[in-house]
This record gives sequence, structure tokens and C-alpha cells, in this order.
Amino acid sequence: MFALAAISLALVAPALALPEQIHLALGKNSPYDMTVQFSDSSVSSAAVRFGSDSSNLSQESVTTTHDFTDGGDDKYKQTHHIAVMDELKPSTIYYYQVGSDEGGWSDVFDFKTAPDSTTLSSSYPLKFGIWGDMGFANSQILKAVTDEVENKNFDMILHVGDFAYDFNSNNGHNGDDFMNAIQPLAAHVPYMVDMGNHEQAYRMSHYTERFRNMPGSEGTVTTDNGEAPNNWFYSHDFGNVHFVAINTEVLFVEERHEYVKKQYEFVEADLKAVNRTKTPWIVVHGHRPMYCSCDADCTFPARMVRNGGYALHRKYGLEKLLNKYGADFYLAGHEHNYERMYDVYDGKTTQTNVNPPHTVHIVTGDAGGPEEHEPFKFPNPKRTAFRTAAYGYSRMTIYNDTHIHWEQVETDTDDNVQGLVIDEVWFVQENHGPFEV
Ligand SMILES: *[C@@H]1O[C@H](CO)[C@@H](O)[C@H](O)[C@H]1NC(C)=O
Ligand SMILES: *[C@@H]1O[C@H](CO)[C@@H](O)[C@H](O)[C@H]1NC(C)=O
Ligand SMILES: *[C@@H]1O[C@H](CO)[C@@H](O)[C@H](O)[C@H]1NC(C)=O
Ligand SMILES: [Fe+2]
Repeated sequence: MFALAAISLALVAPALALPEQIHLALGKNSPYDMTVQFSDSSVSSAAVRFGSDSSNLSQESVTTTHDFTDGGDDKYKQTHHIAVMDELKPSTIYYYQVGSDEGGWSDVFDFKTAPDSTTLSSSYPLKFGIWGDMGFANSQILKAVTDEVENKNFDMILHVGDFAYDFNSNNGHNGDDFMNAIQPLAAHVPYMVDMGNHEQAYRMSHYTERFRNMPGSEGTVTTDNGEAPNNWFYSHDFGNVHFVAINTEVLFVEERHEYVKKQYEFVEADLKAVNRTKTPWIVVHGHRPMYCSCDADCTFPARMVRNGGYALHRKYGLEKLLNKYGADFYLAGHEHNYERMYDVYDGKTTQTNVNPPHTVHIVTGDAGGPEEHEPFKFPNPKRTAFRTAAYGYSRMTIYNDTHIHWEQVETDTDDNVQGLVIDEVWFVQENHGPFEV
């Protein structure tokens, strides 16, 4: 009977495409608000209903809406919606659903807001899940990190570039599949990002449009989909950590070189303004590493990231800038492996994890994708503390203003390993501030 009823219903009404690809980001207007983005092409206006009582979603924000057309042959078009949930309390669990009466409503999801200065000490440790280079196919960490989110083990996720392989594959549908695959994570935990080389298609339209909910920085960028807020480089706080996203692709794509200077100036002004009492930790992240040891990427291209691009741009060198303002970490992906380094500056290291005198560099680009592993072709450099080509993800756990625990979790089906911590270290910094040259 039930099956028959369902069939006859399907004959009269077209299947309702509910809101999909639901994902959160924090910090649009303040460190404590949450911005949700989703796709529903059946309606031109939608909303988010939210509240701290799961049975009373009494607050509502309407979405801003934009069309996003993939650049492939089909010119596949979808409608994205973005709404800010603001005036939230810090360190508080909220419930929300997105949609509209006309297009239907999503399930109810929950999230927890970031702490403020009054709740910070009771919120420790702050727990971040970090990885790069995750495909829709062969996403080896997906099950483990979904479990982490279900167990409330992450306060924020940071995906350092290269999504889906690629967002634009299959006329953009592969990108939708990826965003739906990460929805169980990203609908519950802010999913913060930076742009990788696999997002270059159509003048970088997919990253720009799919992550319009990032906090963004001044100005706009223009892709094949038109003008959009600048989410290529931006910053936000989480508790006592200041995060800065950079777009390493502007160094490599000639028609985007105008952004080399703009980005440099943004990062400099941003780092200069950080209050190291409030946010002693600075984490800068971009897709391509400044240092690695696996292949030719680690020679000329890595040098370009350090120096700010071709010779023309040398004065916009990022390594020097990070050192000048004492960025504690530079996190990258791109290489499909994990390489944790000590402090590194100008190729030199003191191999120090306690009060390191320069930025610590870590490559964590091994979430799994169709391009598979990238083994190490060069000998282990002095600057490298641990490296592996096994699939996995990183956990960064902030205990307070001086102590961070860092772990690498292996989830590699080739080794039949799920959730094994293969590397761990304490980073201690008691003197946050500019590093010496
Ligand atoms: C729902 O929440 C609103 C605002 O917080 C409140 O005014 C209203 O009384 C609540 N309704 C119920 C049924 O609890
Ligand atoms: C820096 O942050 C601390 C702690 O939040 C605050 O007391 C101080 O006033 C801030 N300094 C400036 C210059 O804003
Ligand atoms: C910071 O956390 C570490 C690790 O839990 C602890 O050993 C240290 O005493 C803490 N420092 C302060 C100032 O609370
Ligand atoms: Fe890459």
C-alpha cells in the first residue's frame, strides 16, 4: 500500500528538490555569527530559521540569492542562497533549518558558536580538523572525519584547497556531489577554506561561488560567473587564534597577478593589526607549500610561494612577511602527503618546537582523491620532523595561549588503518610576536 501511494504521488507531483549542499562558515560580521550557504534552484528566495531551543526555531533571516552557472558545455545553472545567523551567544549550541515553504525545508542541524573572551577559558581545548586535497572519489578520510563531527570533536574545519577533483568535473555536478558528501560535516561545523590549483577553471568561479559564505575581505573578484565578494584572501578569529587565508593561485595564474600585490597588502595590514594578547596564535593557510620534500613542486613553485611569485613580485615575499609579524604556523596542502616541519626561515631550521624562533610549516594534503599518493623523492631534510604519504588528516588542539597539541591521524585503506594517530607533538610558544630575521 505504502509503495503504491508513493508511486501515485510521484506521478502527480514532480520530486521536490530539497535544499542541498548546506555548509557553514563563521565570521561574516563578527567572530560569533554563522553564515549558511546552500543550493535550491526551485526558489528565488529562501530563509534560515534558527534558535537555541531545537523545538522553537523562532529567529529567521532571509537569504541573499545568486545564480551560479558552470562554465562547461551544459552551462548547468543553479541557485545558491546565503543567510547570516547573527546576534548569537558565544559557546552556545544553536539549531537551524534552511529552505522555504515553496521549495521545502531541510532537516534541522545543530552547531556550536565560537567562544568570546568571557567563555574562552571554559571552552578549552579548541579543536580544529585540518586537511587538504580531498576528492569526491577516493575521499579516504570522509568516514573518520564524519565520525569526529558526530562525536563533537571538531569546533571548526579547515580545508586547505583542492576540492572534489574537480568542482567543475561532469559539468559541475561532481562539485555538487562533493558538497553533498561533506554536508554531514559542513552543516554542523564551520568549514573554512582557501583556494587550490584544482579550482582554477572558469577563472576560479567554482571556489568563488560555492564558498561565498566565507568572511571575505575588501573588494570583489570577477570570474566567468561575474562579480563576487572577495573570498580569496580573508581572516577571522576563533577564540585565541587568528586565521588568515591566502590564495596561492594568484601567484601562478598570470591573468591574476594583479592580486599578488593586493593580497600582500591585505595580509600585511591584517597581521599588523592583530592584538597578540587577544589572539596570540596566528595561523596562515594557503594551498601550496613554501617548503616540502616530495617532488619538483618543492623546488621552483615552493620558492615562488616564499618569494611572492616571479622575480617581478619579489618585494611581495610571503615568507618574510609571515616572519616579520611572527605567524606561528603556515599550513598548506597540494602535496598528497603529510610533512610536519619545525621552524623554518630562509631554508634554515633550529628544529625547535618549544618557543620556535620562526614560523612552523606543515603540509597536510593527504585526505585522498583520484590522484592518490605522492611519495617522497628527496631525502628527509633537516627541517622535517615527520613525513608520510599515508592518507589522513590533522588535528590541531588549542589548550591555551602557550600550548597547542598537533596530531596526524591515518585513515588509509591500503594499510587497513582507520583513525590511528601516527604523529603527535606539543608546540609551545611563550613569546608570541614578531620573529627576528
Ligand atoms: C520561542 O522563542 C521566542 C523567542 O526566544 C519566544 O518569544 C517564544 O515565547 C518561544 N515560544 C515557545 C513556544 O516557547
Ligand atoms: C588587546 O586585547 C586585550 C585582551 O582582549 C585588551 O585588553 C586590550 O585592550 C587590547 N589592546 C588593544 C590595543 O586593543
Ligand atoms: C597550557 O596548557 C598546557 C597543556 O595542558 C599546560 O601544561 C600549561 O600549564 C597550560 N598553561 C597555562 C598558563 O594554563
Ligand atoms: Fe593542488
